[in-house]
Amino acid sequence: MPHGLDNTDGRERVADRLLRSSAEHFYDADVDIDWAAPWEEGKHWLPEHRLSLYGTELWRRLTPEQRVELGKHELVSLLSFGILAEGLLSKYLLRIVAREPATRHAMYALTEIGEESRHSTMFARLIDKTGVAPYRPNRLNRIQLKLAEFFPLGPVVYAGTLLIEEILDRGQRETMADSTIQPHVRQLMRIHVLEEARHIGFARDELARGMAERGAARRLPHQLLLAYFGLVVYPMLINPKVYESVGIEPWRGFLAAFTGPQYRATMRFLSEPMLRYFAEVGLLDGKVVHALWQLARSLPDDL
Ligand SMILES: [Fe+2]
Ligand SMILES: [Fe+2]
Repeated sequence: MPHGLDNTDGRERVADRLLRSSAEHFYDADVDIDWAAPWEEGKHWLPEHRLSLYGTELWRRLTPEQRVELGKHELVSLLSFGILAEGLLSKYLLRIVAREPATRHAMYALTEIGEESRHSTMFARLIDKTGVAPYRPNRLNRIQLKLAEFFPLGPVVYAGTLLIEEILDRGQRETMADSTIQPHVRQLMRIHVLEEARHIGFARDELARGMAERGAARRLPHQLLLAYFGLVVYPMLINPKVYESVGIEPWRGFLAAFTGPQYRATMRFLSEPMLRYFAEVGLLDGKVVHALWQLARSLPDDL
């Protein structure tokens, strides 16, 4: 146990373990991805069955080349959103540092900011290599992300972090194991999954503590804000402008994707472990909160 560390403080012990892991297991995407290697002919960018239009009438009308092209744009959209999301998270982490500097907890928060900064650089580099311009959220979504910066530190912040980190984690694990995907993309996802496992551990631990120390009345704002965040975040992952790359109007593509047979299945696949954890710690309690989650269309049947 390092000097000055109170043996009884569980949060400090968690942070200490994560700090050690960060020092021992990390990647440097500048050298751990072979950026000079060209894209491989005929490889995909994301698994086809996870593309937003998969299974719709519009999908049936796309040529094989257009399907690959759409996959590239959906990947760029996800990575563009990832950069914004990591920036938002880093702002929360800086607030944590300001609140309790010189604790192991704050040191870990600073370490996590460093990791997110490397991830965002890696995402930017991959986007740049595709030659596709990054996707920016529309004005309404930019306002929503700005408002999210002011969420109170506590369960909503940690659960909101998990909402992004865990759904991307599920998608990335599937993609990195798929040999039909471009090798640069698979390696990027391997790097991200390894380092994000710590972030997910940190956020889950803080979320459980934050919920345990709050009664029903103090939980409610966090439950409501999170349900709202869930509603707005899912549709932000794939920017409707991606459909222009295959000659489909954005609103038409968005409607087809959102009402298509695959949307609920994919959202459930991406969200299931996280939502079960949210339910376990009490984040989904209450009729209104539950109804909002129903609208997000990601809840498993039994929750
Ligand atoms: Fe990250
Ligand atoms: Fe992270």
